[in-house]
Amino acid sequence: MEQLGSAAAVIPASPLATHHADCEWPFRQNSDFFYLTGFDEPDAVALLLPHRPEGERYVLFVHPRDPAAEVWHGFRWGTQGAVDQFGAEIAHPLEQLSEKLPDYLNGAEAIAFRVGRYPTIEPLVLNIWGQQLDRAPRVGQAALGLVAPCPILHRLRLQKSPDELERMRVACSISAEAHELAREKTRPGMNESEVQALIEGYFRSSGARGPAYGSIVAGGDNACVLHYTTNNASLQDGDLLLIDAGCSLSDYYNGDITRTFPINGRFTAEQRALYSVVLEAQEAAIDVVTPGVSAETVHGTALKVLVNGLLDLGLLVGDANDVIERGDYRHLYMHRTGHWLGLDVHDVGAYRLGEKPVTLESGMVLTVEPGLYVSDRLPVPEGQPEIADHWKGIGIRIEDDVAVNDSGHEILTVKAEKSVSAMER
Ligand code: GLY
Ligand code: MN
Ligand code: MN
Repeated sequence: MEQLGSAAAVIPASPLATHHADCEWPFRQNSDFFYLTGFDEPDAVALLLPHRPEGERYVLFVHPRDPAAEVWHGFRWGTQGAVDQFGAEIAHPLEQLSEKLPDYLNGAEAIAFRVGRYPTIEPLVLNIWGQQLDRAPRVGQAALGLVAPCPILHRLRLQKSPDELERMRVACSISAEAHELAREKTRPGMNESEVQALIEGYFRSSGARGPAYGSIVAGGDNACVLHYTTNNASLQDGDLLLIDAGCSLSDYYNGDITRTFPINGRFTAEQRALYSVVLEAQEAAIDVVTPGVSAETVHGTALKVLVNGLLDLGLLVGDANDVIERGDYRHLYMHRTGHWLGLDVHDVGAYRLGEKPVTLESGMVLTVEPGLYVSDRLPVPEGQPEIADHWKGIGIRIEDDVAVNDSGHEILTVKAEKSVSAMER
């Protein structure tokens, strides 16, 4: 509210999304709306009105109580609940939005609204602003512009509060336990889908809402497809299994963990060599996570270890700095080393401000997830060696979730083991 100055913010909730015909997907609230309100129902609209008098600054429009609707779709808080339970100063039924919004926005110097995302609310907001401009010569006042609320909101969301960090510890802990369970139960001949079911079953039985994103359960060469979610192949003796899965809690805080282990409990020499390189890269990258360092440095640290490891193994040739400079490793490592994590798995928050990389601060949470993917899907860059068949079909990623704190960092996902010996049985 403070940061809005005298701009009025209009923040819509998500609508329900159609799955097919008249069936809907389980509801997923808009993360900005949830961050501000904690209100988990569709279609609502939150107004933050710093230009209004005390008692009218936080307004919610919500679906009203309605026994006939609730008998089909379940409980609603209604306007009274929005005030009593969610701290709105005033709440109205959604059907009054178009009638009441012009008055609420009157007198604001700007309107903070994210264009391009909310097709039902956007025309309403733009019309109201247009009407203000039409009246301005007579009344002497109108909002001067439409501003994006995202820079304010996303800067706030990037910095987790102690309560948010506590929720992320819970999400990461359940996610890590699911990975431990999966590794313990995996055997050759099982299907990827069975391992997915074990993990997602654990999420649900631990009280989580479900998977935070499409779980990736990728045996052997499937692991070289970064967003593999088909998860229906049989697990082969001698292959690795890459699992990238995390849970989402009832309040949407997420875990995001990847582990890779041998399906039969023993690494081959090639698998062990590559796994050791990825692990060394990941540990080195986590080690540099501390306030003042940029995410770019975290990536660069992992990349240097990966490239040196690949040079040692003969999968790359040349000088490490030249290889990095030219991007000649990208057929083996084609993604970045991490992303912000929070209410969204790929959480909001800038990585750069113009030319300047954002530096880590206490309270930020990021993933650290280097990997290596050996297949012939991408061409080998000129001057680099062709890959011998015995390396192919090995895809490895190791991903932890790391909170920056005053003294360095806290790994939120430590319960998921990752040493070479722990991956074997
Ligand atoms: N599971 C998505 C990611 O690791 O970024
Ligand atoms: Mn991730
Ligand atoms: Mn992941």
